[in-house]
Amino acid sequence: MRILGIETSCDETGIAIYDDGQGDLPEGIVAHRLYSQIAVHADYGGVVPELASRDHVRKTIPLIKEVLSDANMTPQDLDGVAYTAGPGLVGALLVGCSIGRSLAYGWNLPAVPVHHMEGHLLAPMLEENVPEFPFVALLVSGGHTMLVRVDGIGQYEMLGESVDDAAGEAFDKTAKLLGLDYPGGPVLAKMAENGRAGQYKFPRPMTDRPGLNFSFSGLKTFAANTIYKENERITSEEEKVQVHADIAYAFQEAVVDTIAIKCRRALEQCKLKRLVIAGGVSANSALREKLTVITKKLGGEVFYPRPEFCTDNGAMIAYAGMQRLKAGVDTDLTFKATPRWPLDTLAAI
Ligand code: KG4
Ligand code: ZN
Repeated sequence: MRILGIETSCDETGIAIYDDGQGDLPEGIVAHRLYSQIAVHADYGGVVPELASRDHVRKTIPLIKEVLSDANMTPQDLDGVAYTAGPGLVGALLVGCSIGRSLAYGWNLPAVPVHHMEGHLLAPMLEENVPEFPFVALLVSGGHTMLVRVDGIGQYEMLGESVDDAAGEAFDKTAKLLGLDYPGGPVLAKMAENGRAGQYKFPRPMTDRPGLNFSFSGLKTFAANTIYKENERITSEEEKVQVHADIAYAFQEAVVDTIAIKCRRALEQCKLKRLVIAGGVSANSALREKLTVITKKLGGEVFYPRPEFCTDNGAMIAYAGMQRLKAGVDTDLTFKATPRWPLDTLAAI
């Protein structure tokens, strides 16, 4: 079976075709394309929802045509259409939902609404080294930071989440304070490579008490105060470059340490050894390295998607959609965009 996946929940239009390997083709992604709206939003320092919706309107259909052509397929080669139904920006979601539902109707195929975070969570299943259930999943993106116990598809127990900013949001806000363009997460990470250890000590929020929740807004404030103080003192451009790299290093180290402490705690609490990490921030190499070390120490293993499937993409939606399609979907012709949609309310399959 083959399914088309459509992702339009935020600022990337992602389209992919996934094949389950039961026919002539090997299991996996047959074709995928991503159009990022970064340039559209960069001047505003963040995603402008109305501009995001308009750009999805422009790009979704052409990208679907391109992906079908890349795959050398026509709609008759498909068995379903999956689209992100939430959570996300309502206008952006509505574009993917209405296009996905309409194409499925026009092509006489089942339509499959997909939960964006379930897509992220299952993205590591597209890799060679597939994690077995049960495992602990760390979902770290621009909008979410969650620790979830996963016993199977749709069997999600929330262990902890951020009480304020998401990890990616903290990266982006701190990057902005350092004068970097949106989305600053990956640029800050690059800058941190030139930073020196031990120059600044950032707090590790909420690690001194039990529990698996996170809080990242204090780190951003700490970064703001440090940058302000240092900018007052700095006398040359050269010094500023080094100081900013040192601050980026210390900030990233604090986020990574905090996440690692909570991941270790979650694995111990659940008596599990497998850790899955997904979502945009899971592309961060310092985080990957640290989590590899801690899981190894526990005799376990960490699983993650390839970097291009860490951030938003159509492949993860096609994969999650295929699992849901096989479990049976509604034939209802209505569609609904759900901007807020708790992950642990999904049905088990
Ligand atoms: O999953 P995603 O593409 O979109 C959401 O669903 O939010 O995640 C985007 C987030 C942004 O905040 C971005 O700055 C962050 O992931 N990000 C990173 C890195 N790559 C992406 N943060 C830190 N280091 C990275 N290498
Ligand atoms: Zn995402």
